[in-house]
Amino acid sequence: MSWALVAGGSKGIGFSIAEALAKRKYNLLLVARNHDDLILAKKTLEKTYPVEVETLTCDLSLTESTIKIHDWCNDKGCKVNILCNVAGSGGSGDFPELPVNEVSTMLRTNLESTIALSTILIPQLKTNAPSYILNVGSLAGFAPILIKSVYASAKSAVHSFSYSLRYILKPDKISVSCLCPGPVFTKPSIVNETMKQMGWLGKHMALEPGLVGELAIRGLLRRKMIIVPGKLARLISYILRILPDQFIAYLIYSFRK
Ligand SMILES: NC(=O)c1ccc[n+]([C@@H]2O[C@H](COP(=O)([O-])OP(=O)(O)OC[C@H]3O[C@@H](n4cnc5c(N)ncnc54)[C@H](OP(=O)(O)O)[C@@H]3O)[C@@H](O)[C@H]2O)c1
Repeated sequence: MSWALVAGGSKGIGFSIAEALAKRKYNLLLVARNHDDLILAKKTLEKTYPVEVETLTCDLSLTESTIKIHDWCNDKGCKVNILCNVAGSGGSGDFPELPVNEVSTMLRTNLESTIALSTILIPQLKTNAPSYILNVGSLAGFAPILIKSVYASAKSAVHSFSYSLRYILKPDKISVSCLCPGPVFTKPSIVNETMKQMGWLGKHMALEPGLVGELAIRGLLRRKMIIVPGKLARLISYILRILPDQFIAYLIYSFRK
């Protein structure tokens, strides 16, 4: 049976992605920091779907975690052919107030772990091809967002990396997709922040994590490159991709003054 590794699969969008895979009978390897949340996710999924779920507690912002995850997969002897790099966070602070250690953690969790895990698991994915990589970016990664500049920069790099990887891995039958959601109401802090910063637009663009997970896996298995769930978010993503970055940055700057 095929196995999928979901880095950041215990809660939120990651859990919904894991659930959408379990529905399609993929066994799961879930990684996150909180042990209790992982066990709860494992019990919920194994009770509902005919799948096996293994869990690993580890912090993806630490460089050594990549090797730990790689060795864990090898020791389990699971045939991984789907890798989902979901873990990440926007946090509430931004440059220049955000302390430099928190900036580093944000970059390592959102970007470095995505690149490192993809790199170290490529041999396994090649052996078990046809395989899939799903990297989680964000609508924020399509533009320089002045109030989320570190997060938007990290996600923009995730998008860019995913585009390159897609063509690099094409001959190896590994398909690469990038999920770029607008607001997803995974926790109260995101609901509050979305309503405060985006008002009407945020309310109408926001989606529930269950739907986002399902659309992400549908898009992944159809080998879509960019997956933006929701009609309004998709429309905004097209506009953001057409407009020059300089213009968007100036527009946000002018609104904030
Ligand atoms: N929610 C949104 O509005 C939204 C919009 C666009 C993009 N995204 C992106 O979607 C992804 C998931 O967001 P979410 O809202 O679903 O987040 P979430 O509810 O906080 O879930 C994040 C998942 O990743 C794990 N995780 C976080 N940091 C980790 C670390 N350092 N090491 C290992 N595991 C870690 C969490 O478990 P532990 O806390 O136990 O580690 C959890 O399983 C992120 O990349 C985010 O940037 C979210």
